[in-house]
Amino acid sequence: MKDIDWSNLSFGYMKTDWNVRIWYKDGAWGEIEESDSEYMPMHIAATCLHYGQEAFEGLKAFMGQDGKVRVFRMKDNAKRLQSSCKRTMMPELPVDTFCEMVRRVVRLNKDYIPPFESGASLYIRPLLIGTSPEVGVKPAREYCCLMFATPVGPYFKGGFQTTAYALVRSYDRSAPLGMGKYKVGGNYAASLYAHNLAHEKGYSSEFYLDAKEKKYIDECGAANFIGIKGNSYVTPKSTSILPSIVNRSLIHIAGDNGMDIEIRQVPFDELGEFDEAGACGTAAVISPIERIDDIETGKSYIISRDGKPGPVLTKLYNQLRDIQYGIVPDPYDWTTIIDL
Ligand code: PLP
Ligand code: COI
Repeated sequence: MKDIDWSNLSFGYMKTDWNVRIWYKDGAWGEIEESDSEYMPMHIAATCLHYGQEAFEGLKAFMGQDGKVRVFRMKDNAKRLQSSCKRTMMPELPVDTFCEMVRRVVRLNKDYIPPFESGASLYIRPLLIGTSPEVGVKPAREYCCLMFATPVGPYFKGGFQTTAYALVRSYDRSAPLGMGKYKVGGNYAASLYAHNLAHEKGYSSEFYLDAKEKKYIDECGAANFIGIKGNSYVTPKSTSILPSIVNRSLIHIAGDNGMDIEIRQVPFDELGEFDEAGACGTAAVISPIERIDDIETGKSYIISRDGKPGPVLTKLYNQLRDIQYGIVPDPYDWTTIIDL
């Protein structure tokens, strides 16, 4: 194991030893290759550089209390990458190949898997890009799927604690029939300006409404929104949000806890009615929301009056983390143990 200050890792890039790559040429995927380079040679007219023909994923491997390494729901990430590829005219990588690449990149970088006690994890970043040259707007003929791994700590400094969000109306991250439900780089480029605006004003992140009517909650930065109202778990139904694998998992656990699940359009003026709210995703699992400030109207929606995470989201957070770290048995078959 590497000599790293595991407990103080942030959510950032750290060089590791290996990444894995696979190339698509002449209508077929080749063999998985291992690389110790952090760089990749690129044609100056590659479609990923000019026309953003790219998609990516994010998933984590956890060192368990029992010394076993578990990856969370990798087949679901493989399938979501396929759906992003379909929408961007890129060839779909077979699910089994995706999973084999995940296994390989985890094994090759096993010395970078943070120890159980640190609460950190190994983040795996797959990306798939058009690599061959075009100047007209058309899909590439050749592609590369690459996966690297890097140890990460909490997404927001301080981990599981509430933060404030800035509701922005002047910038959208995605359109109703656009790319929001796919994990493509352009969505994140579209979010950088609003994210920076929110950050400069002291907020952890920006908060989006639906682009068409500006009436319904869409996403909390790069995470899905969850609201807790009495015994209900409420989360937006929208054509412009990413189908979060963590949200889907929390919905399952909440349902098994006896909660009512409401997947529906959520008008933003309902924000004042939630007992608890949070942003969810792989990076943070759940990031509880303290308040949401509408920076254009000046209205504040206070969610947590004492500034602390609420009991329902805390329980869900712990239940999911316990499955990921192998502290409790995984009744859903979400985790895959990687033989190192
Ligand atoms: N929404 C956006 C825009 C994201 O980038 C992510 C992260 O992947 C999520 C939601 C959460 O998705 P998941 O739970 O699959 O990580
Ligand atoms: C998440 O994992 O929750 C994310 O939002 C990923 C982000 C770093 C792109």
